[in-house]
Amino acid sequence: MTRTLIVGSGFVGRTLATRLAAAGESPVLASRHPLTDPPAPWTALDAADAEACARVVGEVRPDRLVLVHGPSDVTWCEANPERAAELHMAAAANLTAAAPGCRTVLISTDNVFDGSSPHNDENTPTAPANAYGRAKLRAEQIIGQTPGATVLRVSLIYGWEPAETEKWLNFFSACAHSLRRGEPVEAPDDQWTTPVLVEDVAAVTAAVLAGGAPPLLHLGGPDRISRAAWAEAVADRLGVPRSLVVRVPKAAGRYASRPINTCLTSDRLDGFLAAHGLRVRSVAEGARVLLEAAP
Ligand SMILES: NC(=O)c1ccc[n+]([C@@H]2O[C@H](COP(=O)([O-])OP(=O)(O)OC[C@H]3O[C@@H](n4cnc5c(N)ncnc54)[C@H](OP(=O)(O)O)[C@@H]3O)[C@@H](O)[C@H]2O)c1
Repeated sequence: MTRTLIVGSGFVGRTLATRLAAAGESPVLASRHPLTDPPAPWTALDAADAEACARVVGEVRPDRLVLVHGPSDVTWCEANPERAAELHMAAAANLTAAAPGCRTVLISTDNVFDGSSPHNDENTPTAPANAYGRAKLRAEQIIGQTPGATVLRVSLIYGWEPAETEKWLNFFSACAHSLRRGEPVEAPDDQWTTPVLVEDVAAVTAAVLAGGAPPLLHLGGPDRISRAAWAEAVADRLGVPRSLVVRVPKAAGRYASRPINTCLTSDRLDGFLAAHGLRVRSVAEGARVLLEAAP
C-alpha cells in the first residue's frame, strides 16, 4: 500500500491525510505536538532536526513525501524573518536528504509574489513581499533541486473549522462563525485573493502525488475576490445583513503584511485537472457546501 509521509498536521495536512486514507492509502502525519483526534497515524517530528527526519523516514519508509508544515503565520514570520527562513530551509533540506527516492510535494504559497499583479502564473518572476514568502521561496529552491519533485503553490485556503479551534481560524470560518453570532466582521476591500477550498487542495495534491505533475504548478480558485466581497457572500449565504461586514483598508487590519493581490493563475492547471477528472470550486459553491454541512 502506498505510504505518504505528510510533514505538518495542521489544517491542510490533516485534510490531505483524510483524503488519502479514504482512498485506501496509508498516510502518516508528522509534527511536533501530538494531535487529539488524528485522521491517520501520527508521529512526532521536528522537521528542523536532521537526525529526527532520518529516523522518522527510516521508521515510516514512505513512498511519497508532502511538506505542509509551518511556520505559516505571516505575522509571526514578519516578526521572526531569519528563524522563519531557517526553519523552512532546514525542513526542505533535511527531508529531501532523508528520503531521496520519494515523490515529493511542497505546498507553497502565492506570497512568493509581491502582489503588484492580479495575475501570477508559473512564468511570473518571483518577488516575495514578506518574510513568509521569502522563507517559502528558499524552501522551493531546495525542493526544486530534487528530481521528480513538485512545488504546488496554493492561494488562500479555506474550509470549515470549529469555532473552538485554538489557532487562528481560516478567513472563511472566522467570518462564518462571527456572522452566525451576529457579530460584525472587518474585511479589507482592497486586498484580493483566489481562494481554494481545502478539500480541493487535498484532491489536487493527491493527484500530484500520483505522478505526471509538472515541477511547478499553481493552484488558485476560479474567483478573484476581495476579502470584503467574500465576507459579504458568506453573509448572503447565511441570510444575515451584509451591513455586518465592515469594509476596511488592508493597511488598517490584521492582513497588513499580506500583499494587495494574493492571486494565482496557471497556464497548466486546467490541463492537469482535466487529466485527473478534477474541478476547483468557486467561492459561492464552497460557501454553499460548507454551510449546508455545518453543525
Ligand atoms: N492555509 C493556507 O491558506 C495556505 C495557503 C498556501 C500555502 N499554505 C502552506 O501550507 C502549509 C500548512 O498550512 P496550514 O494552514 O495547514 O498550517 P497550520 O494549520 O498552521 O499547520 C502547520 C503544521 O505544521 C506543523 N509544524 C510547524 N513547525 C513544524 C516543524 N518544525 N516540524 C514539523 N511540523 C511542524 C504544526 O504542528 P506543530 O506546531 O505541532 O509542529 C502544524 O501541524 C504551510 O507551509 C503554508 O505555507 C497554506
